[in-house]
Amino acid sequence: MSILNLQVRWPPMNKILKISHLSKTYQSGFEALKDVNLKISKGEIFALLGQNGAGKTTLISIICGIINPSSGEVLVDGKDIIHHYREARSLIGLVPQELSTDAFETVWNTVTFSRGLYGKAPNPQFIEKILKELSLWDKRDNKIMTLSGGMKRRVMIAKALSHEPKILFLDEPTAGVDVSLRKDMWNVVKDLKASGTTIILTTHYIEEAEEMADRIGIIRKGELILVDEKLALMKKLGKKELILQLSLPLQCIPAALDIPGLILSQDKFEITYTFDSNSEQISIADLLQKLTEQGITFKDLHTKQSSLEEIFVNLVNAGVNTHEA
Ligand SMILES: Nc1ncnc2c1ncn2[C@@H]1O[C@H](COP(=O)(O)OP(=O)(O)OP(=O)(O)O)[C@@H](O)[C@H]1O
Ligand SMILES: [Mg+2]
Repeated sequence: MSILNLQVRWPPMNKILKISHLSKTYQSGFEALKDVNLKISKGEIFALLGQNGAGKTTLISIICGIINPSSGEVLVDGKDIIHHYREARSLIGLVPQELSTDAFETVWNTVTFSRGLYGKAPNPQFIEKILKELSLWDKRDNKIMTLSGGMKRRVMIAKALSHEPKILFLDEPTAGVDVSLRKDMWNVVKDLKASGTTIILTTHYIEEAEEMADRIGIIRKGELILVDEKLALMKKLGKKELILQLSLPLQCIPAALDIPGLILSQDKFEITYTFDSNSEQISIADLLQKLTEQGITFKDLHTKQSSLEEIFVNLVNAGVNTHEA
């Protein structure tokens, strides 16, 4: 290989994961992934959203070497997942969607054994640290079968972290976990990010993506249809509508009310004001005062906010063009 080739293939230092033109057709002929392109930066939390069967687990399973891609390339910190499988896999921790642990084993042994599977030298101090971080230290001698569901999930995270991976994949980390435990889990994930781990998670809870992710990817029928910074999506989310039901019909919006976003309904009985709650626009109080000054009175008002959920559902149903992240 020439020096030029080496330079071309070397990934940018801050990209820990690079997925190029990845496709997967299962033996049944089902196309589960279609030309997926994605780059993940070191230390980011990336949330993958998609409906049941969209291809989230398939994507994660390929990156983790559980199933083979049909075409395309995945580099984990520059290591190809097929040609340098062991090196690539040692950089990855996976908490699978389906939990499976040895019910009769203790927490301590399970996590210690997991580290050994990756050929890492024993490091009791490190295991102690992660068990403490995951609030499992008190349970270290408990058999897995005696733990609650949320604790079992945390043991799975401890197992996935036992060999000190650089990237952690969490496939539906909080499915079936109650609200308070879910929040604990979010804190665990945030702490992991603070300690430098890159995290890729799938979730059905849009609130979870909203709470934690730096970027969000939306996958629909095997296609990554959108990748965006969470804050950019939140800006779209920030769109609100104020709907005023007028006491009397209005022929047109007075010229004196030169405010962008004001629309009069066809039946002339409703004014809708669409605004971006994140930007500095006229306040609702000021708007109402200006309407009153114009002699416009109303009998009712209410507000509506488009949620990330709505944005997500619209995107998933309508579909938008794929682009490389
Ligand atoms: N071994 C397989 N053989 C054939 N089709 C498969 C196989 N595994 C998964 N699929 C199909 O691939 C598609 C994507 O499945 P995948 O498990 O990746 O979805 P997902 O996004 O993780 O869904 P969920 O949110 O339900 O976990 C589904 O239609 C599924 O039926
Ligand atoms: Mg899945």
